[in-house]
Amino acid sequence: MSIYEQLGEDGIHAIVAAFYKRVPSDDLLGPMYPADDREGAEQRLRDFLVFRFGGPERYIEQRGHPRLRMRHLPFKIGIPERDRWLRLMSEAMEECDVPSPSREEMWTLFMQVADFMRNQPETS
Ligand code: HEM
Repeated sequence: MSIYEQLGEDGIHAIVAAFYKRVPSDDLLGPMYPADDREGAEQRLRDFLVFRFGGPERYIEQRGHPRLRMRHLPFKIGIPERDRWLRLMSEAMEECDVPSPSREEMWTLFMQVADFMRNQPETS
């Protein structure tokens, strides 16, 4: 069973909503996200995860190949930003009480992708 099949559209939406609820007041991540397009940012992450977890390919239809690392280059992402993103996502997943095995599968992917997004030297 895919994560999409286990959680459904609503389950994935709820996690992304719980994540973005935390972003604006976050001192590190808040300023990075577009204040005038929060809804759009939420939709992009939601559609990406729906696609990545085995659901409809709306993200690809609208945004093309994800090229996530390239799309994150405009943002300064070092270890502190990576860890903060993961912390907010972990809180969001906790709030939504994500069931196993989706919980573990999602978390593995988030840790890998978040680390891959780093574009600052470790010492900075
Ligand atoms: C490592 C820490 C991360 C930071 C600081 C970060 C930050 C950002 C920011 C500021 C945006 C722009 C918001 C927008 O207008 O769409 C963005 C977009 C996005 N992020 Fe991240 N992100 C991180 C990790 C991740 C991870 C782990 C994933 C996926 C599992 C992810 C998936 C996306 C997607 C799909 C978009 C929209 C790309 C597009 O189509 O333009 N990000 N991220």
